[in-house]
Amino acid sequence: MGEATKVWFLSPEVEPFAKTGGLADVAGALPRALRSMGLDVRVGLPYYRRIKDQPVSIDLILEKLEVPLGDLKLPCKVLETKTKEGIRVYFFEREDLFDRPQLYGNAEGDYYDNLERFSFFCRGAILFAKMIGFSFDVVHCHDWQTGLVPAYLRSVYRNDPFFSHAGSVFTIHNIGYQGLFPRAKLDACGIPPREFHPDGIEYWGGISLLKAGLVYSDVITTVSPRYSVEIQAPEFGLGMEGVLQKRAQDLHGILNGADYSAWDPGKDPHLVAPYEPGSADGKKKNKLALIEEMNLEASLKARPLLGMISRLSSQKGCDLLVQVLENLVGLDAGVVILGSGEEKYETMLLDISRQYPGRVAVRIGFDDPLAHRIMAGADMLLVPSQYEPCGLTQMYALRYGTVPVVRATGGLDDTIVDFDPLEKTGNGFKFGPYEAKPLLKAILRAIDVFKDGETWQGLIRNGLKEDFSWDRSARKYAEIYDSLVRRKREGEIGGPEDPV
Ligand code: ADP
Ligand code: GLC
Repeated sequence: MGEATKVWFLSPEVEPFAKTGGLADVAGALPRALRSMGLDVRVGLPYYRRIKDQPVSIDLILEKLEVPLGDLKLPCKVLETKTKEGIRVYFFEREDLFDRPQLYGNAEGDYYDNLERFSFFCRGAILFAKMIGFSFDVVHCHDWQTGLVPAYLRSVYRNDPFFSHAGSVFTIHNIGYQGLFPRAKLDACGIPPREFHPDGIEYWGGISLLKAGLVYSDVITTVSPRYSVEIQAPEFGLGMEGVLQKRAQDLHGILNGADYSAWDPGKDPHLVAPYEPGSADGKKKNKLALIEEMNLEASLKARPLLGMISRLSSQKGCDLLVQVLENLVGLDAGVVILGSGEEKYETMLLDISRQYPGRVAVRIGFDDPLAHRIMAGADMLLVPSQYEPCGLTQMYALRYGTVPVVRATGGLDDTIVDFDPLEKTGNGFKFGPYEAKPLLKAILRAIDVFKDGETWQGLIRNGLKEDFSWDRSARKYAEIYDSLVRRKREGEIGGPEDPV
C-alpha cells in the first residue's frame, strides 16, 4: 500500500468552531469521512473571536509565522487542536484581522479589509505547510475566501519545488459570493500584476477571488450535479458562466452528504424528547413542545405546522415566503421561522408575526439548538430557494420525518422527489417557477396529503429510506484527489512550464 494521500483542507468556516451556513457543516464532516477512508487530512481556518470561547483545548504551536501582505510581512500565530477522530485542525491567528464579532461582516456590510484578511489566511496556510514540512498532495479550497490559494501556487510559488507535486481542488458552495474587490487591492494580496487579465484574476476591471479559484485550480467541484450544470448558464452562473464553460472538463458536481451524527433525532441532545426516526409518537411530542416554546395556538397540534430554518437572503426565497405567509394563516396552518440575514427580511417577517400571533412565530438569530427543535417539531420544512447549490436542511428534514417542500433547483432538485399520490412514490413536494402561486400550490398539495394520516406516514417512510451519508460523496472526492495526484505525477497538468 502506498502512502496516504495528504490533503490540506482550507475553509473559512468549519463546524464546530465557526459557522454561518452549510459550508461549515461540510468542512466539519467531509474531513472526518476522508480520514476514516485512510487519507491524511489536515484542516485550516482563521482564528475568529468566537473560537476562543469554545470548550476545546487549543494549543499555541507557533509564535511567529511571517506572512507577506502588500509591502509588509506580518507575524501570524498558529494554534492547533486535534478532533476526537485525530484530525489536526490549525488556526491562523492575527488579532487585528480576525478578533471580531462576526466572520465576514456586520449589519453595515462586509468588513472593509476582507481581501487583506483572507489573503493573509491563504498565504499563511501555504507558508505554514511548508514550514512544518506538510507536503500536501492536494490542497482543497472552499469558496472565494480561499480562492487565492490556487492563484499563489500558480504564480508566486510556481517554481518552488516544495509545492511542485501539489494539486489544487476548488469547491464552489455558492457562486453568488464572488469576493469582488477593486483593482487597487491587487498589490495587497501579492498576486503579480501579470495575472491581471480576463483569463486570470481580473473581473470587469476589478478582481474576483472566486474567479481566482476557478481559473487557477486544477479541478473545480460544486456541491450537486444539477448545480454544476446550472452554473454554466447565465441565470445561475451570475457572471462566472463563461469561465465555467471553458473549464467544463474539470468541473464536477458532487452532492454533499448529511452529517447524521449531528442530525439524528434518536440522539439529538437539543430535543425535549429524542425519537427514533419514523416514530409518529416521538414527532408528536416534539411538535407539542415546539408549539409551547414558540407560543403558538394549541389548536395547531392537529393542524399542519410548517418550519423554515434559513439565512434570510433573496437566494433563500424570502420574497416568496413573505408573499404566501398570509395565505398560510388562512389555511389554518402554523409557521415557525428561524433565520438571520438581510434586515429588510427580518423586519418584514417580524411584522407579519406580530399581525398573526399564535400562528406565525419568527425568531431572528442564529440558534443551532432551536434549529434542531424546529426540524423535529414541524410537519413540513419550507425551502423555496431561488437557487440552491446543494441545501442541507432538506436532507436533515427527511431524517426527522419532516416533509420538505422545495423549489426544483440545484441540490434541492437532486435530493427531493415530488410525491405522487397514486403511486405513493416521492419524498417531498416540489415546485418549478420562482413565483408565489406555484409555491402555494405545492404547500396545498402537502396539506392535502397531511390530512390523510396513513398516506402521510408512508411519505415520511419514503424519506427515511434515503441515505445521504457522507461516505459516498467522500469516496468521489477521494477519486478526484487520486486522479489529480496521478495526472500531476505524470506531468499532465500544472508543471512549472505549464502556461497559466
Ligand atoms: P446555506 O449554506 O446556503 O445557508 P444549507 O442548507 O447548506 O444552506 O445549510 C444551512 C445550515 O445552517 C444548516 O445546518 C442549518 O441548520 C443552519 N442554519 C441556517 N440558518 C440558521 C439559523 N438561523 N440558526 C441556526 N442554524 C441555521
Ligand atoms: C452554500 C449553499 C448551500 C450548500 C452549502 C454547503 O452555502 O448555499 O446550498 O448546501 O453551501 O455546500
